Amino acid sequence: MNELDGLVTAVLISPKYQHISPDLVRRIGARELAARRGLKEAVKATKNKLHQVGGAYFEAKIDYARALADLRAAAGNEAALRAACRAVMGLHASTHERLPILEMFYTTILADLPPLRSVMDVACGLNGLAWPWMPFTADTRYIGYDIYADMVCFVGEFLALAGVQGETAVRDVISDPPTQPVDLALLLKLLPVLEQVEKTAVPHLLDALNARYLLISFPVASLGGRSKGMVATYEAQFDAWAAGRDWTVRRFPFATELAFLVRQNAAP
Ligand SMILES: C[S@@+](CC[C@H](N)C(=O)[O-])C[C@H]1O[C@@H](n2cnc3c(N)ncnc32)[C@H](O)[C@@H]1O
Repeated sequence: MNELDGLVTAVLISPKYQHISPDLVRRIGARELAARRGLKEAVKATKNKLHQVGGAYFEAKIDYARALADLRAAAGNEAALRAACRAVMGLHASTHERLPILEMFYTTILADLPPLRSVMDVACGLNGLAWPWMPFTADTRYIGYDIYADMVCFVGEFLALAGVQGETAVRDVISDPPTQPVDLALLLKLLPVLEQVEKTAVPHLLDALNARYLLISFPVASLGGRSKGMVATYEAQFDAWAAGRDWTVRRFPFATELAFLVRQNAAP
């Protein structure tokens, strides 16, 4: 076993990272092995980075079997199902902070778009459970990717019980950016996370995606609750990523999230 295989094994046996994408562990691990003094330090640095990009968003350990049982019990009753979805979304910081704006987030941003046949949620977290608030039809297909196998499996089970056409899969979108054609790609609070792993990850992902519309958003406060200057910083970062691209952009500032709807003019 070489050093990198050893690092990947050491990370994946820890309970916190047993379900995480091995591709992402390998990618981060290779960089850390090159930058650190020895395997032990590299394992620690890899776990720290995985915490930053994924682990830190879990507000508590999620009991997916129980969450699914609650959702199943609520299925068939629209109000009860929405309440159960909200309760589960509250367990992941990113969907949690969207709850106060959920009623208007998708309906406002997507109001003027033509009917969408497919939506790809890139690094979905638990956002698939926001399906009842998304203005799509029964024909719209949802595809969700994230780095946690247990989480994407759970979101997939929710989609099945909610009668949504679609699928979820484990995918490190840095190593393997999705390229299949879709009408809309959701990149919700993702780009700053990818940038923490590799500076070139965001332009590579944007180059690879084959979507007519992109919905790109940013947090307006850090996980610790500090917000000073974040909107201006992310706005400047968005402008830098947008530079040179044939995009028409609309900006939607919400209380807990800054969103940009992008029409990729070169797309059909
Ligand atoms: C800030 S959260 C956003 C989650 C979701 N998009 C939302 O807005 O509710 C970042 C998400 O990116 C996922 N993630 C981090 N690195 C990733 C990667 N390389 N490939 C795919 N997903 C990744 C994390 O697991 C986490 O669910």
